Amino acid sequence: MPTDQLDIRPAHAVHGTLEVPGDKSVSHRYVMLGAIARGVTTATHLAPGADVASTVACLRALGAPIELAALQTLRVQGLGRRGLTPARTMLDAGNSGTTLRLLAGLLAGHPFRSTLTGDASLRRRPMRRVIDPLTAMGARITSDDGRAPLQIDGGNLAGTAWISPVASAQVKSAILLAGLHAHGTTSVREPLATRDHTERAFRAFGLPVSTDGLTAAVTGGHEATAPAEVLRIPGDPSSAAVWAAAAAALPGSEVRIDRVCLNPHRLGFARALERMGAVVDLETDDEVAGEPVGSIRVVHGDHRSTTIGASEVPSLIDELPVLAARAALGGSLEVTGASELRVKESDRITALVAGLRALGVDARELIDGFQINGGDGRRRPAGGSADAAGDHRLVMAFALVALGASGPSVITGAGVVAVSYPDFAADLHRLVR
Ligand code: S3P
Repeated sequence: MPTDQLDIRPAHAVHGTLEVPGDKSVSHRYVMLGAIARGVTTATHLAPGADVASTVACLRALGAPIELAALQTLRVQGLGRRGLTPARTMLDAGNSGTTLRLLAGLLAGHPFRSTLTGDASLRRRPMRRVIDPLTAMGARITSDDGRAPLQIDGGNLAGTAWISPVASAQVKSAILLAGLHAHGTTSVREPLATRDHTERAFRAFGLPVSTDGLTAAVTGGHEATAPAEVLRIPGDPSSAAVWAAAAAALPGSEVRIDRVCLNPHRLGFARALERMGAVVDLETDDEVAGEPVGSIRVVHGDHRSTTIGASEVPSLIDELPVLAARAALGGSLEVTGASELRVKESDRITALVAGLRALGVDARELIDGFQINGGDGRRRPAGGSADAAGDHRLVMAFALVALGASGPSVITGAGVVAVSYPDFAADLHRLVR
């Protein structure tokens, strides 16, 4: 079997208890803050995928001594606020928008030239959303018409009060990271609340950050301090969502995912799965560096229909493909106000709908979303061959449809799942019945 292809047979149900890889968003932030903190940051269960590996490689190229040991244990000897040094080559963020946008913010505050680039997909994604605020703060940035590569001449930044037109945690985080090295106060207001991992991580590293409704603010000049304890990065809710959606879709299923990050800004998928008929229990039992941690238990209930609109999108932006897959197996889903999906790792509206249709699903594109009709759940999609279009989230969404299909399926280009979940296929085989 070619490694880039995933062959999936229909399953009856999914059953079991598991843990998923460490959260990707939290991992990126700990690597970056660890590099500029005073002291040694140690974290276990770092996200194992290619995206966080890109962040580690970039920070190493900027001089940060970073060790990665068994069990995804990260050890960063922090260099302090002014410790990063110019990289000798271009910094390659690979497929990772978070790496590129957050590093753009961090490097805007450093008085040297850096060039940031990425793979073909990342070089197509919009960067003006970070170029504009960072330029307003005083960084000099050239780009390929608003896209990577970005050449950043940083340093000597002044605080700003930025009103972001896009609801993006990456944009907010880039501005806050630049604000650490700016004179005065830097604030950013977002149109809708997005994940607040940066704000929580700043506090864990002793950096004062204030929040007031949709505005977050930092004052430049503070030193980050490495947390005294060893942090165990909580499981990634976006990976947990795949198994949650599978349990919700397949009758007779029950899955529990332990030690997951239960940050409320990441849990829109759980509320959507409930509306679509599943029984969902969330139980917080710990807190790590300001992030709530606990278990998610999902039992199949019913097939119902729901809609998702703009206001809910930031809380489930990365989970929309698996929610579409869940609806493909019963009930229906209409998503609107999600045009951001068009500028993710792929055009996630066109590529998602194309793949679902190739698997026999009744799916339709909207300008800013999609409609999926899974009927009463008794007539399963036929299955077939779907292409992941270079997008890790689509591999997982198509795999879920394939489990619920009436015939066998093939997902081509599936190797890209390693961007966030390298052991995805192994966990799938463990859970299916
Ligand atoms: C992320 C923010 C979101 C999300 C991405 C990770 C982050 O992107 O889709 O997977 O870690 O800040 P946007 O900020 O572009 O919405």
